Amino acid sequence: MINFTYLVSTKVVFGKNTESQVGDEIRALGFKKVLVHFGGESAKKSGLLDRVRKSLIAAGIESVELGGVKPNPRLSLVREGIELCKKNGVDFLLAVGGGSVIDSIKAIGLGLANDGDVWDFYEGVRKPKACIPNGSVLTIAAAGSETSISSVITNEDGWKKMAVDDMVTRPRFAIMNPELTATLPDYQSMCGVTDILMHTMERYFSKEKGTDLIDRMAEGLLVSVMENGRKMHKHPKDYGVRAEVMWAGSLSHNGLTGTGRSGDWATHQLEHELSGLWDVAHGAGLAVIWPSWARFVYKENIERFAQFATRVMKCEMNFEDPEETAVNGIDAMERYFKQIGMPTTMKDLGVSEVTDERIREMAEKCSRGGKRKLGSMRVLGKDEMRAIYEMAR
Ligand code: NZQ
Ligand code: ZN
Repeated sequence: MINFTYLVSTKVVFGKNTESQVGDEIRALGFKKVLVHFGGESAKKSGLLDRVRKSLIAAGIESVELGGVKPNPRLSLVREGIELCKKNGVDFLLAVGGGSVIDSIKAIGLGLANDGDVWDFYEGVRKPKACIPNGSVLTIAAAGSETSISSVITNEDGWKKMAVDDMVTRPRFAIMNPELTATLPDYQSMCGVTDILMHTMERYFSKEKGTDLIDRMAEGLLVSVMENGRKMHKHPKDYGVRAEVMWAGSLSHNGLTGTGRSGDWATHQLEHELSGLWDVAHGAGLAVIWPSWARFVYKENIERFAQFATRVMKCEMNFEDPEETAVNGIDAMERYFKQIGMPTTMKDLGVSEVTDERIREMAEKCSRGGKRKLGSMRVLGKDEMRAIYEMAR
């Protein structure tokens, strides 16, 4: 186990009708003027936005609004949000939506609290010193941004999708009512299930040994999310199932399952090029990349892949040939993705023009022109990235 610091300061308010408490939560923190940020249609259509407005008014909180956040949230709207907040003296940022809305509001918070261009933080040119406080009313169990330290933004200039990972962005509260997620299309719910699984798997597939407690917590989370994901696929309106997955979404990405180990985030980084280039759902892109990544790297740590296979995927252990067990586990995970309707190749994703040139372009961008390497289980340079994209084609 390696050294770690673990502090999750986000207050979670979980359960039915909890969105009605949002005004009180903000007032209790002492803030007076809020930006309410939301996506395209869903929060308006469901009446959620009206309920949020009512709660703010009842608590005596003033607000300005900015909608229109797209999945794979765009830098241009972030810039618009920063200007709007400056003009209106906003002191708190409220996201009503999913990971994209929360990431967009974190970016606005970074832009407001620091001088210079906010994109610098995403390119890694500078580190932010602060962020205007944010909170959310979550409408989809997926990205885990409601308790995470990350924000992922797409710059339309070059379609670059990049992340900031910094404690200053961690939300002050997350209001999580699983009922709100019942209006999601099945495909989007399953993209969420995949993303949640991957947030724990990217931590689980680490090279360190001696992480037994966290291994078993991670394995329990993965088994539960897979089972409840399957149930949700069949019974989308079941509150209990949605509650299990929603809570797992936060626990999967608040850092807990990564304590004491380094993780290997290659699948996420490789995926960002897919959703940056083709604007596909992040979870679907992960299901495309992971099986190919796993087949490319598993020989570096057969023991860990075999442990995953037996404890999570319930494969039988072949003590004479652990490699066979490791491979069976990868195959079983790929079958699971298919069972819940996820694509597992770029062809399945339905994107056009997966040409050799596109593959080269993704490897070029992901490796930052050959300067960046990915992963810890097996370190990937540009050529290895290209090989994985080829396998996932
Ligand atoms: O815009 P609306 O109309 O709200 O529609 C959204 C959107 O089309 C819809 N939706 C959300 N809640 C709904 C709903 N539709 C019906 N009923 C509801 N209750 O769902 C679509 C997807 O929303 P989005 O916010 O994009 O989903 P998600 O939470 O999966 O977020 C994905 C983004 O998060 C980033 C991803 O890269 C991607 O850009 N990530 C952020 C992370 C973080 N900050 O920690 C970590 C993740 O690894 C991830 O990279
Ligand atoms: Zn993710």
